[in-house]
Amino acid sequence: MAYKDEQLHEEKVFKDPVHRYVHVRDRVIWDLIATPEFQRLRRVSQLGTTNITFHGAEHSRFNHSLGVYEIVRRILYNFRGLPHWNDDERLLCLCAALLHDLGHGPFSHSFEKVFKLDHEYFTQAIITGDTYVHRILERVRPGFAKDVADVIGKTYADKLVVSLISSQIDADRMDYLQRDAYYTGVSYGHFDMERILRVMRPMEDQVVIKSSGMHAVEDYIMSRYQMYWQVYFHPVTRSAEVILTKILHRAKYLYENNYTFKLDPTHFLSFFKGKVSLKEYIRLDETIVYYYFQQWQDEEDAILSDLCERFINRRLFKYVDFNPNVQLQELMRLQVLFQEVGIDPNYYLVVDSSSDLPYDFYRPGEEEERLPIHLLMPTHELKELSRHSDIVDAISGKKRTDHKLYFPLDFLEEKGAAATEIMEILSRQGEIDYAD
Ligand code: NI
Repeated sequence: MAYKDEQLHEEKVFKDPVHRYVHVRDRVIWDLIATPEFQRLRRVSQLGTTNITFHGAEHSRFNHSLGVYEIVRRILYNFRGLPHWNDDERLLCLCAALLHDLGHGPFSHSFEKVFKLDHEYFTQAIITGDTYVHRILERVRPGFAKDVADVIGKTYADKLVVSLISSQIDADRMDYLQRDAYYTGVSYGHFDMERILRVMRPMEDQVVIKSSGMHAVEDYIMSRYQMYWQVYFHPVTRSAEVILTKILHRAKYLYENNYTFKLDPTHFLSFFKGKVSLKEYIRLDETIVYYYFQQWQDEEDAILSDLCERFINRRLFKYVDFNPNVQLQELMRLQVLFQEVGIDPNYYLVVDSSSDLPYDFYRPGEEEERLPIHLLMPTHELKELSRHSDIVDAISGKKRTDHKLYFPLDFLEEKGAAATEIMEILSRQGEIDYAD
């Protein structure tokens, strides 16, 4: 039997708290899960520093990837025999679902910002490079790895296949919303996925939703909206992320200025130099990052050691609302005052902005052209979701941004009277958030 058609003698199942069970029957999927590149995802957390705020959020990219695979498996089970669906694409979809986040590194967001990396590039590189994953995919047929990479990169010719993995209602989002809600313990994020899966229909170039399922989709859009503001952009989580980012900046700066580390940053060298090989990228996971941060608490450099101690022991920066676009004068004044009292504003005075666009219809020519969600009406015509749903219409195309200014209140308090003007400016922004 051809490798692509090989089935396991017995179905394997993974117990999953979100989907109850993840079912694996295909030999190819089973072999991919066993590769070192996929197993590495156990050591990369799904939500980065969110566990600082919501202590239950310890789940990994491994859990999420299996979950996305399982959702696609269920969708395709429902699609069998329907018009527009070509079941020859099944294994390709399952592989793309399983591997879509393969290139995520530890604390992706901060690493990408500081070292100008792109996890999507590394996902492509792992799938098409000299890896175990690549060898398995090429056993299916020559060129199969490239097809999987194209589906994930959204350049694959069959747009129906692409929309299963990435669109405004795709398996990726449906998994992470429910999974992140489950592990953080919040009551947002839940919606009736079973219902959505039952009303999904394949069309020529996209998945559409039977109009009878519109309310389940509204619920999904709202839960996404709430998860962004209640969980993903939580200001305390961002405080930890600000510190993490500054640790990486400081370590890189010290390396470039010939500082002698007590613990040589061996695993970071290629990141500092801006030339990261695939092998080095795959080797860096969160266990290694935590090891360095633990050790760097004892470094001579006061800034590096303090930031690492803050990150490890959750001694976070406090914050106030602050819009740098309209408060540039205040920001510049604060920078000067920080210098004067001997606190380096480059590391200890940080503006962080988060923004989200909950749903949007198609706007040709815009930066990121979003494929809208289409409802299949009883008359067989397609209708864009926000034209039929008042709830979705209300938040459609509305980008919301939140700006915060982060600073170490404990340092300022130590300065006493010398920090009076700083405290005055900060207090004018509203109450300093002490809640942690
Ligand atoms: Ni994902």
